[in-house]
Amino acid sequence: MHDTLLLFGATGDLAQRYLFPSLLRLLGDGLLPEDFRVRAMALSPHDTDKFRDILRPRLEQALPQASQDDINNLLRRIDYRSVDLRDPGSIADAVREFNGRHCVSYLSIPPGLYISTCEGLALGGALSAPHRLMLEKPIGSDSDSAAQILQSIGALIDEDRVFRIDHYLGKAAVQNLMALRFGNTLLEAVWNRNYIESVHIMVAESDGVDGRDSYYSRSGAMRDMVQSHILQLLCLVAMEPPASLEADRIRDEKVKVLRALRPLDARHAAKDSVRGRYTAGTINGQPAQAYQPPEGSEAETFVGVTAHIDNWRWAGVPFHLVTGKRLPERTTRIEVNLKPVTHWLFERPDRRHAQPNRLTFQLQPQENIQLGLMSSLAGPEWGALELQPLELELSVPTGLHRRIAYERLFLDAFNGNHALFVRDDEVRAAWAWIDSVTDAWKAADLPMQPYPAGSWGPDQAHLFLPAAIVADERSD
Ligand code: BG6
Repeated sequence: MHDTLLLFGATGDLAQRYLFPSLLRLLGDGLLPEDFRVRAMALSPHDTDKFRDILRPRLEQALPQASQDDINNLLRRIDYRSVDLRDPGSIADAVREFNGRHCVSYLSIPPGLYISTCEGLALGGALSAPHRLMLEKPIGSDSDSAAQILQSIGALIDEDRVFRIDHYLGKAAVQNLMALRFGNTLLEAVWNRNYIESVHIMVAESDGVDGRDSYYSRSGAMRDMVQSHILQLLCLVAMEPPASLEADRIRDEKVKVLRALRPLDARHAAKDSVRGRYTAGTINGQPAQAYQPPEGSEAETFVGVTAHIDNWRWAGVPFHLVTGKRLPERTTRIEVNLKPVTHWLFERPDRRHAQPNRLTFQLQPQENIQLGLMSSLAGPEWGALELQPLELELSVPTGLHRRIAYERLFLDAFNGNHALFVRDDEVRAAWAWIDSVTDAWKAADLPMQPYPAGSWGPDQAHLFLPAAIVADERSD
């Protein structure tokens, strides 16, 4: 197992809130090598003691149950070095001493600094075999910048030692989608255009942009969420069964889905997509401010877009993808709406009021699976059958947290398992589709729709939101 983590962006929010706490848990559970150590790096001119002083309360806050012994055990293994990521020489100097160890470099930094950082790592010998590289999303901000990053880094390190993170793939609830799809006959039998009417994939957040404006104002929801997490969920829902669980067999199937996505045409932009930005409002009784990015920023905080997968299994089935910040609640769900039964036998209710089956996977905050059926269970004991909707519900009581996703991803990267990481061709194919959407928006001059914080998005959002959300909203 690899034993040394070279962590860039060590003072950043992701590292402090998720990466170090994940390492603390792994260490406490005895899952890291005996001589595991971390070189933390960032621009701030701290020394190691100062860095440890900053990190300690963050660890205590993230993991209140952690013992002081475990925290000290982690802090002892970390030292800090200030580096200038635009200067490959400074990076090389900071990593050279680890050449004799098995290093994993983790880039939790803006993608604009990936190339110079990797040049520095290569100069310091930290990208040659057996060293590995973990990269946070996003890889670039469009196809061209992604291609440039992939190509430049590809010239410095082989693909089989690169681990591109999409932390949604580390979530147990997301992995469960594969288990449910390929571990059951029931689903596969109906999992196609003959039985499925539409699919909705939604990642709703109640948090706002908060302190991440410099990144978010250049990215927006489409590049921040749809390009990565939502397209990965789409792949898991729509892909063909892989021949095995080997990493490349899974990734082969995912990339086929991405390549089958129909580019958005500017003529359909207004019908097939909506973008919005939140204004002031209230969430859970608390006032929330408007998002005001710097002048000239095109960043949207809400996206609804209908994806069409042009292949035999999915021809004609719309996949409605939705994500937004400052929505009423945090929930990630996939709603699969089945077609109505072919021939309706019952008088009560009449055909128009029969509800087609609906299967919903809620992935967070609580894992939960719901199946909507029609039944006469609650009807009269005799007389004509009277059907009513019935909800079968399976609730998994454990909340799954992002930190746990990173624990899994660290372990897999240290052990060399690529199944939960994104391959270079997936990144390219995902950006190709995202570019088609953002280009169509530009060509069609698609307006930015305002929506009050705490609402379910702009007016047209209901065309994309899961049917259950729209129905709940109407009944409120
Ligand atoms: C990140 C995005 O990748 O995922 C954030 O950059 C978003 O904008 C976050 O808030 C959501 O992750 P999770 O695990 O909290 O659903």
